[in-house]
Amino acid sequence: MDILIQLYDEFASEYERTRVPRFRPFVKRLLQLYDTRPGSHVLDAGCGTGLAATMVAPRAGHGGKIFGVDASEKMLEIARHKAKGFGFDQCEFVAGDITKLDAADDSFDVVICSFALWGEPRAVFGEFFRVLKPHGALLLQNWEPERGGLVRKFNDTLHAYSKKFSTERVLQTRAVLAKHRADWSELQTPQDYERVLREVGFSQAAAQWFENATHFKNLDECIEFHALGVGARAELAAMDEATRAQFVTAIRDALQPFANARGVEEIWRAIQVRARK
Ligand SMILES: C[S@@+](CC[C@H](N)C(=O)[O-])C[C@H]1O[C@@H](n2cnc3c(N)ncnc32)[C@H](O)[C@@H]1O
Repeated sequence: MDILIQLYDEFASEYERTRVPRFRPFVKRLLQLYDTRPGSHVLDAGCGTGLAATMVAPRAGHGGKIFGVDASEKMLEIARHKAKGFGFDQCEFVAGDITKLDAADDSFDVVICSFALWGEPRAVFGEFFRVLKPHGALLLQNWEPERGGLVRKFNDTLHAYSKKFSTERVLQTRAVLAKHRADWSELQTPQDYERVLREVGFSQAAAQWFENATHFKNLDECIEFHALGVGARAELAAMDEATRAQFVTAIRDALQPFANARGVEEIWRAIQVRARK
């Protein structure tokens, strides 16, 4: 299995606990960009633990159909459990690859892709275009490509401690993440998304920044959050115990200036896009 998907499998329950509540305002805003109608057939590509799928399900109603597709079986298990708990029998979660969707041409009214843009951009957008019905809507969001401030400080400190630990697994992870950065380097601004989506065939594409403040109750919660991410978890797992302990001390010192008596606040920025086939 692809190293990225292994990492998401290992991350699944912590993803649900630490990411989903913080990503919810972004998904809420993304879904406001398009009025999904009752009875709609919706694809949530790279659905993870089903955040967007379960948020759009009430709009599509029991007469609609929501397919969540993800390559991580552990993420899908959580998505299925949540949808069942909500009584959303219109949701179905299946294993699959968003770069080669197992779906007929012209089969969805809406395709959503929330923070799951992996693969070569034109290939992925081309798949979304292919499976959308004529005039169907694409809603997607991606994080800002270059994050500064606290995130940059976290990553720089991590890399200072991790660079001498080059296990096979960590090398594979670095290679996957480097390829991902290279694949998406052309897409830096909302205008870049609009241009590439039009090149792929979308008739309309409108993209914009959306930002939201995320709060951590203290520095430890903030550090735990960043240490759990797919890249960081692979790097930390490869370190020996003594180095990991040194990193923990160093990261507390490095991030202390970002904390105050109320905790830590980070401003997160995403590019959100609505396009029509
Ligand atoms: C950051 S999570 C986003 C999950 C969800 N959309 C959300 O907003 O919470 C990225 C997801 O993309 C999935 N993924 C990555 N590459 C994939 C691929 N080629 N095909 C299907 N899923 C993929 C991962 O397994 C992971 O669940």
